[in-house]
Amino acid sequence: MTPWRQACEAALRSFSDADSIRFWGVAHEIDDVQAPIFNYRFEHTFAVVKMARWLCPLTGADLDVVECAAWLHDVRKRLKDPHSKDTHAQDASADLDEILTGTDFPSAKIPAVRHAIMHHVGLKLAKRLEPIETACLWDCDKLSKLGAASLIHFGCISGAFQPITTEDILHRGESWLLLCEGIVASFNTEPAKAEGTRRLAFLKSHYAQLRREWVEPVEACPP
Ligand SMILES: [Fe+2]
Ligand SMILES: [Fe+2]
Repeated sequence: MTPWRQACEAALRSFSDADSIRFWGVAHEIDDVQAPIFNYRFEHTFAVVKMARWLCPLTGADLDVVECAAWLHDVRKRLKDPHSKDTHAQDASADLDEILTGTDFPSAKIPAVRHAIMHHVGLKLAKRLEPIETACLWDCDKLSKLGAASLIHFGCISGAFQPITTEDILHRGESWLLLCEGIVASFNTEPAKAEGTRRLAFLKSHYAQLRREWVEPVEACPP
């Protein structure tokens, strides 16, 4: 039997590598194999997996369920696909059995993985999610969009959508901070809320520093 983590990582790697190469329209050639310039989906997902391994012991959530859901929550999500409506949670759920069949993942836990994946979308919650495994996946996914690693992930893909400048990144970042307030207010679990509050403070200080470096000297010394 294939170890389930290995199967999940392989499924994600194969879909997201191909999608990243399509997205960028160019690839590195390493030993006759094409490698994407930056695989945002894989890097984001790995951050969510790391968060799952951190959060589950603190909340009592089932790590098998949350980590498996973390690996697979965006496994069918394409980068910038404006012509189709976003069904990535449903698409991932539909392919769960196929990915996990023949692995050592307990089949009795697949419905809980599916429930978590189906409820992970959106940047705000009107009420806390249940059960705890579904709540943890939402929290881990949103924590991965806050903090130092998120700056690297967003920065690496920002120029691929359109021509970008440092000032554009500053303005986008400052708009993102407003949405982050809603994310932090929505966290389901106390450890995620505390970590999210720390990460948001870091992001605010990062963009305040960027404004000091990039905009304020120009405003202070007009040509
Ligand atoms: Fe997602
Ligand atoms: Fe995600």
